[in-house]
Amino acid sequence: MGKRGSVLSKFQSLDAYAKTLDDFRIKTYYGAALTIISAIIILILLWSEFNEYRSTEIRPELIVDKSRKEKLTININVTFPRIPCYLLSVDVMDIAGETQNDLAHDIYKTRLDTDGTRIDVEKAEDIGDHTKDIIKIVNSTSLTNETYCGSCYGGILPESKCCNTCEDVREAYIKAGWTLSNPDEIEQCVREGWKEKVENQSKEGCNVAGNVRVNKVAGNFHFAPGKSFQQNHVHIHDLQPFLQDKVQHDFSHEIHHLSFGPKVDGVVNPLDGVGRSISTGQYMFQYFVKVVSTQFHFLNQTTILTNQYSVTQFERDLTGKDHKDGHSHNHYGGLPGVFFNYEISPMLIINREESKSFTHFLTGVCAIVGGIFTVAGILDGFIYNAEKTFKKKVELGKHL
Ligand SMILES: *[C@@H]1O[C@H](CO)[C@@H](O)[C@H](O)[C@H]1NC(C)=O
Repeated sequence: MGKRGSVLSKFQSLDAYAKTLDDFRIKTYYGAALTIISAIIILILLWSEFNEYRSTEIRPELIVDKSRKEKLTININVTFPRIPCYLLSVDVMDIAGETQNDLAHDIYKTRLDTDGTRIDVEKAEDIGDHTKDIIKIVNSTSLTNETYCGSCYGGILPESKCCNTCEDVREAYIKAGWTLSNPDEIEQCVREGWKEKVENQSKEGCNVAGNVRVNKVAGNFHFAPGKSFQQNHVHIHDLQPFLQDKVQHDFSHEIHHLSFGPKVDGVVNPLDGVGRSISTGQYMFQYFVKVVSTQFHFLNQTTILTNQYSVTQFERDLTGKDHKDGHSHNHYGGLPGVFFNYEISPMLIINREESKSFTHFLTGVCAIVGGIFTVAGILDGFIYNAEKTFKKKVELGKHL
């Protein structure tokens, strides 16, 4: 018993928190007030510390992008209020040499009324700048009369050697370097009511929306007037219908959406909602887009590969005004239209979602509780001493 007692008392001597006797403790009103106040402060701080512990943070990391042979999905939604769909073509080109003329993929052209309401959705089939019903007519004639082979009226013959539609004739003409200015004399066009359709639609606007998959190399996609085609490896647009139409067209546009890759909350697309208005047809808008690959690793183990971009913007008036002789004339120093030139950045941003560590939270809790009590203790001692001194002075004053 004695031995055990001495071991215990030795152990007790390690107590860093030696207790004072209760008899010597004085409880004061301000002490109680301080205790309550510090308890409230502690609760508030603990609450905010807990909220911070529960929240996650995104940690960015920058490395060199080593991925190869990847594809890039461009999501786009642009409205052109003063160009009808049949006049507008969408083309994608990249420096790897892949050209996709008059895109068919997942791009939809929607005809818009003069006041911007949608007319009908047409998938921008490779068949050209025409509406669905024309395509149907084409199909029905070729079904009912399979031996039909329309004349190309002297234009360059297509592979099939026949121009069965007005569009075929137009293409044959373009390839020969002519423009289709006499649709009344062309049987195919009269049958399709081409001229009437063009006249009816020429005041319309066009919305182009959808997505395109391209090689992940620098390239450009553009919205330009007229049908585009490839001739002797040169990309050519048939500008005549655009420039010579009685109705004035221009490339005013509104970009509702432009992004590269899947949508992720927190990625801001700087071109969303950007619009430009112009009143001349001979105008070129250029957007230079730098695409930065971005990975998101979320806590729930999902990984999303997407892209962010930054953009600079240029525009050019293509009506060269020569002030010397007072004349203004066009020089085709560029194609009217809206061009998006994109470049791929060699850097990859990895955004990792991280949670706060529990030990960090625990440390914070101890610091808050300990710190507040210490500060309150100092304050309490200070008030106690001040009160004592004050009372002494008052006593002394009474005796004087
Ligand atoms: C394109 O944007 C317009 C305007 O925000 C919207 O009404 C339309 O649904 C969008 N089209 C697509 C295919 O997302």
